[in-house]
Amino acid sequence: MLSVTFLAVSLFGAVQLAAAQSSLYGQCGGINWTGSTTCSSGTCTKLNDWYYQCLPGSGSAAATTTTSTRASSSTTRSSTSASSTPSSVLSGLPRLKGVNEAGYDFTVYTNGSFSGTGVDPPAGQFTHFASQGVNAFRVPFAWQLMTPTLGGTIDSAFWTRYDKTVQQGLATGAYVILDLHNYARWNNAIINQGGPTTAQYASLWSQVATKYASNPKIIFGIMNEPHDLPAIAPWVQSVQAAVNAIRAAGATSQIILIPGSSWSSAQALPTEAGPQLLTVTDPAGGVSKLVFDVHKYLDSDNSGTHDECVTDNISVFQTLVNWLKQNNRQAILSETGGGHTQSCYTALNSQLAFIKNNYPTMLGFTVWSAGSFNTAYELSVTPNADGTDNQLWIQAVKPNL
Ligand SMILES: *[C@@H]1O[C@H](CO)[C@@H](O)[C@H](O)[C@H]1NC(C)=O
Ligand SMILES: *[C@@H]1O[C@H](CO)[C@@H](O)[C@H](O)[C@H]1NC(C)=O
Ligand SMILES: *[C@@H]1O[C@H](CO)[C@@H](O)[C@H](O)[C@H]1NC(C)=O
Repeated sequence: MLSVTFLAVSLFGAVQLAAAQSSLYGQCGGINWTGSTTCSSGTCTKLNDWYYQCLPGSGSAAATTTTSTRASSSTTRSSTSASSTPSSVLSGLPRLKGVNEAGYDFTVYTNGSFSGTGVDPPAGQFTHFASQGVNAFRVPFAWQLMTPTLGGTIDSAFWTRYDKTVQQGLATGAYVILDLHNYARWNNAIINQGGPTTAQYASLWSQVATKYASNPKIIFGIMNEPHDLPAIAPWVQSVQAAVNAIRAAGATSQIILIPGSSWSSAQALPTEAGPQLLTVTDPAGGVSKLVFDVHKYLDSDNSGTHDECVTDNISVFQTLVNWLKQNNRQAILSETGGGHTQSCYTALNSQLAFIKNNYPTMLGFTVWSAGSFNTAYELSVTPNADGTDNQLWIQAVKPNL
């Protein structure tokens, strides 16, 4: 639960910047909306009291080629699925293809403890990858770096470092995923199940969302790899509180990534946490901006800790895609990867091609990992010192950008 004080403070922070006309899929009205109420493309359509959106159709011929392609492929998707829900239920984002920029998560253990100071991802990587077509960077961070005291305020020194990196990503025109890399934990205790309270967790997201409330290229990755949760329902409550906090902070237009259980397992989502997570609502209207967040590695125990890959595991993704289509939802593969071996070049290429071919149900991928990882790290896609890319990037990732 959010405290009354916390909610009141957040609402007063919900100031929107006035814009010219809203673009297709942009907000164009709703309670407390002070931006444009006209659309440069599409028609301003009331979804609920809080959210009006510029949607395709009704006299506008101004839709871009990209939008038309997306809309028509969604129409195909809808017509072949059991539902006739219109394409506007989807997020409206382009296909995301990208990479993790690790460093601020270094020494976050899987028990949610942290013992380091973080390492800034190299600035040059953002332009390096963007020049090849990357349009999404996931930037993990330790909760303890962002708010050194649980439930406390953002550390300004860390914020300066983190935001500088985020801005380097945004400057390329890419989307940037803010990834809280804490496994649903703080110091070996689970959120809302003996550890941090849901209010402490929501407070972190309220503060971060306030900073980026007006930036449509920010994506909120509200938790990396929850695992070994005693129960799913408390986690779903915490997810709902984080979503509410982000919207109450004024960040009403952005995508929020919703992780399930079992290390954000792509295989587990449809049967484990997925059914309960379908009940999470979005104060900004609809659920098109709540995108599921899944991970999938291709080594023998699916852990991403071995050099050899044993499968592309397309069957797991086909099951996931079927489930998403039945529920008119999207997911992103925000971690996958492989070792520097021919088996991984082949399997990762095949997996990423499947993700690519299943857009928009699969919104896209961000590969693990570049950033401050050494080129010798077994899953590294960090560019070499001479500016060249490794074979995993060249053979498996680049063909799917
Ligand atoms: C938002 O709208 C509500 C209901 O109309 C109003 O009470 C509140 O003062 C508004 N908040 C802001 C920040 O404008
Ligand atoms: C978390 O795990 C790390 C690594 O195993 C360990 O050093 C640390 O003591 C653990 N933290 C807690 C609070 O148990
Ligand atoms: C595919 O992944 C699942 C877990 O996500 C695993 O249980 C299964 O063994 C994998 N299939 C192959 C062929 O490795």
